[in-house]
Amino acid sequence: MGEKLAILGGPRAIPEGVVKKWPPIDEIDRRMVMDSLEGVDHAFGPNCRAFEQEFADWNGNRFAITTNSGTAALHMAVVACGVGAGDEVIVPAYSWSSSATCILHHNAIPVFVDIAFDTMNIAPERIEAAVTPRTKAILVVHLHGLAVEMEPVLAVAAKHGLKVIEDACQSHGATYRGRKVGTWGDCAAFSFNQNKSLCSGEGGMFVTDDEEMAARARQLWSFGETRTPVESRDYHAYALGWMYRNNDLTAAFGRAQLTKLDGYIAAQRANARRLTECLRDVPGLILPGAPPDCEHTYYNYTIRFDMEALGHAHDAPAFRDRLVQAMQAEGVETGLWQTFILPAMTVFQAKNGYGKGCPWHCPHAAPVDYSLEQYPVARLHTDTHTGMTYPLRAPNGPETAEWMAAGIRKVMENCDQLNG
Ligand SMILES: Cc1ncc(COP(=O)(O)O)c(C=O)c1O
Repeated sequence: MGEKLAILGGPRAIPEGVVKKWPPIDEIDRRMVMDSLEGVDHAFGPNCRAFEQEFADWNGNRFAITTNSGTAALHMAVVACGVGAGDEVIVPAYSWSSSATCILHHNAIPVFVDIAFDTMNIAPERIEAAVTPRTKAILVVHLHGLAVEMEPVLAVAAKHGLKVIEDACQSHGATYRGRKVGTWGDCAAFSFNQNKSLCSGEGGMFVTDDEEMAARARQLWSFGETRTPVESRDYHAYALGWMYRNNDLTAAFGRAQLTKLDGYIAAQRANARRLTECLRDVPGLILPGAPPDCEHTYYNYTIRFDMEALGHAHDAPAFRDRLVQAMQAEGVETGLWQTFILPAMTVFQAKNGYGKGCPWHCPHAAPVDYSLEQYPVARLHTDTHTGMTYPLRAPNGPETAEWMAAGIRKVMENCDQLNG
């Protein structure tokens, strides 16, 4: 008989208060946010302009436009690539909803491609089969802090004359062949939402090296105007536009956090390494890793349960839930991210974005098939995963990873107690 699990009334493996809060706040944040507050321009102010330049420099892009969310930056990327009514954009079957709904925002149609189990990212070798005469772009998502292996993606794009959009919302600082994400495709989107490796509360950044794309994105970003708040405006909507601009306070917070981002990413990597060392011999777990060309940031340390080995292949989602609840009861800060694959979400199954079947049934569109059997790997992933973010973030160090590992080990070594 092993140790009694906390969920069944046993003692917790991890004391309360082990995980320190995210993001760490210091004098730099306080000073920059207070200076903005005391300033006179609270809309698209001087911190917004400085944030764009500093982020472009940090990531290695010519142009950066700061937005009020990563989703806004993704929509701008879709428009920058010239995607419009009835066009198709290829996306992974597993991601955040707005990796795909940003395509609907411009009346275009997402076409889903299954993921690779090992990387949890789009399977590059499956992309070409999804290309049709209507395909305009491939939108890859660098998920969990791991870059997509871009060379095969770029090869398909070049062969078929497609644009490549990078959803880098989760992967600031992740690299492929030594180069950062957001510098491989035609344009990219980052998020600065609370959970992200760079947090400004909410916010995002569109980046590109292409001047024309930057101009198209900027037009959508600010009411369809061709002149921006930086220049003199004529208050004229030259095209359909949204209001996606960032504000000065948020940009000040983002700038302050950016000065510390390299340190945060180094901490995430070191803490993830420690967690992997501690979990390597724990039964029933499939640990995350990276292909040799990619350096992971471990934005989200995602484990899969080996349900075959655990004898629960027949009821994987239910047993996943029991394992995760048992870990949480021990004090492990792990949870479930997406339990639906994207094509299973109601908006896609019902094919009803704007009402009356639009955009799928508009005269410019061709039928697409969202039957779920096409995505067995994404479904296996969602049924068997759990992920962890804050315990591996600064200011937490390797000792927090060791605590998390102790809780996970206790549950896995005693998981027969959950069989009843
Ligand atoms: C992969 C991915 N894409 C896009 C987004 C959207 O970012 P935001 O919440 O800033 O709109 C997120 C945010 O959670 C994300 O994880």
